[in-house]
Amino acid sequence: MAAPDFFAFFSEYFGERWNALLPALRGEAVYETIQYPGKEPYYLDEASAFAARALGVEPGMNVLDMCAAPGGKTLILAGALKGKGSLQSNDRSPDRRTRLSHVIENTLPEEFRANVTVSGYDGVRFGMYRKEEFDRILLDAPCSSERHVMESEKYLAEWSPKRISHIAITQGSLLASAVDALKPGGQMIYSTCALSRMENDDVVRKILKKRKGKVRVLELESGIPGTDKTEFGLQMLPDRCAGRGPIYCAKLEKLEIEN
Ligand SMILES: C[S@@+](CC[C@H](N)C(=O)[O-])C[C@H]1O[C@@H](n2cnc3c(N)ncnc32)[C@H](O)[C@@H]1O
Repeated sequence: MAAPDFFAFFSEYFGERWNALLPALRGEAVYETIQYPGKEPYYLDEASAFAARALGVEPGMNVLDMCAAPGGKTLILAGALKGKGSLQSNDRSPDRRTRLSHVIENTLPEEFRANVTVSGYDGVRFGMYRKEEFDRILLDAPCSSERHVMESEKYLAEWSPKRISHIAITQGSLLASAVDALKPGGQMIYSTCALSRMENDDVVRKILKKRKGKVRVLELESGIPGTDKTEFGLQMLPDRCAGRGPIYCAKLEKLEIEN
């Protein structure tokens, strides 16, 4: 039997809701403007900005943005540090990393970028080589990005439900690495712009099993009306959130283990 195409798959997945979600995904996004005096503006989806702020970064912290390019969320994290502490903005793709460096250079004032470093490691390595080092980690994981897939005949032709399970395996490895790189008591956000639970709650459920007793889920409250509460986090989809999203995010805390 032939695999369902993109639209048939998500129509079945969302049921009635797909009739409103599909046009909303094709509609205009809602952006927040990040701009410092004398610097270029950067436009970031308001739901993405929420996910980055939900990490609760404060001046002085040691922060990792594991998959940072092109850099919208890194701007929020650097802004929250106010030049104190450190932010490692990492991305494995050389082209996207070039863009990330430009975004940091063109958008952030000198005093907010002096403590930001850009690196190009495979995120999976942080858990091995930078164990228990970071106070806060943002894992804005590579995902199916259905809103972008829908814009391209080429991507639509390449799409299959199998891609979702392949990407979910990568997301699980990155999430395990992030948990291992967190200090005990440290916190992280796992976020994606994927629509389905297979790349969202299911990935979180697996890490809770894989790192049992080492990590717990924290409650998140969104100020964005229309946000859906999911099993472990929040999802903002453009049909209910007036154009914002898609963004899923969950907040995790690494437990302090008593000896
Ligand atoms: C959803 S995008 C990140 C968007 C970014 N956080 C922002 O707000 O602009 C995911 C990124 O993960 C990067 N990536 C994919 N696999 C990776 C890996 N194994 N290690 C590090 N980065 C990776 C991709 O190059 C891509 O830039």
